[in-house]
Amino acid sequence: MAMTELVIRADGICKHYGRGDTRVEVLRGLSFELAAGESVAIMGPSGCGKSTLLNLLNGLMRPDRGCLEVFGQACQGLSDNDWARLRRSRIATLFQDGNLIPTLNVSRNIVFRAGLAGLAVEPLELLQALGIAEVAQRYPDQLSGGQRQRAALACAFAMQPELMLADEPTGSLDQASARRVMPLFFEAMHERRLTSLIVTHNPALAQCCDRVLELSNGELRP
Ligand SMILES: Nc1ncnc2c1ncn2[C@@H]1O[C@H](COP(=O)(O)OP(=O)(O)O)[C@@H](O)[C@H]1O
Ligand SMILES: [Mg+2]
Repeated sequence: MAMTELVIRADGICKHYGRGDTRVEVLRGLSFELAAGESVAIMGPSGCGKSTLLNLLNGLMRPDRGCLEVFGQACQGLSDNDWARLRRSRIATLFQDGNLIPTLNVSRNIVFRAGLAGLAVEPLELLQALGIAEVAQRYPDQLSGGQRQRAALACAFAMQPELMLADEPTGSLDQASARRVMPLFFEAMHERRLTSLIVTHNPALAQCCDRVLELSNGELRP
């Protein structure tokens, strides 16, 4: 029997911040699996630990306890350099405001991001596919929220990741812009057969995913 390839396996993950009186237990034995090609939405109130979870999955933070595997590798065996390599080439993180470099125009942001992954890309092709070819020469502070979001997406696609982690990707957009960007987002994801984990407050965005999980009391549930 063919086994489904798992991109993420998390089992009993715990993570806290602070100490003594200010100690907060954010994740309390969280478990889930993400199969290759799947898109999963994570919902939950502000402060429940969604960003913390994403930052464990891209290696910017380490869990206190529990077993975390990415691409079949146990994270205990991954050094900071190993994680950095994964973030350059296999795991893209899309932040709410778009993690663009302010001193580079959009085209150069894309070329730079691809270069980190050892790739050469034609930025205009990517921008055309996302419907924002006209902003190629503009700097991040010359973009609208929706344009910045799509430019950030173009940068993420430029590295040809296998796993896309998105932290409230439509969070800085108004409803109308969010409705325009979302279909593009999913079309582009499906085209690239990307595995994705999308943190969102937006039920319409969550409904576009294969599964929705709720983060509450430090655990993930369907
Ligand atoms: N660096 C930190 N130090 C202390 N507490 C933190 C830190 N980062 C986040 N927290 C707390 O951990 C909880 C979860 O934060 P976060 O993962 O950002 O939640 P979400 O993304 O769901 O809004 C919140 O109560 C937040 O205040
Ligand atoms: Mg957050």
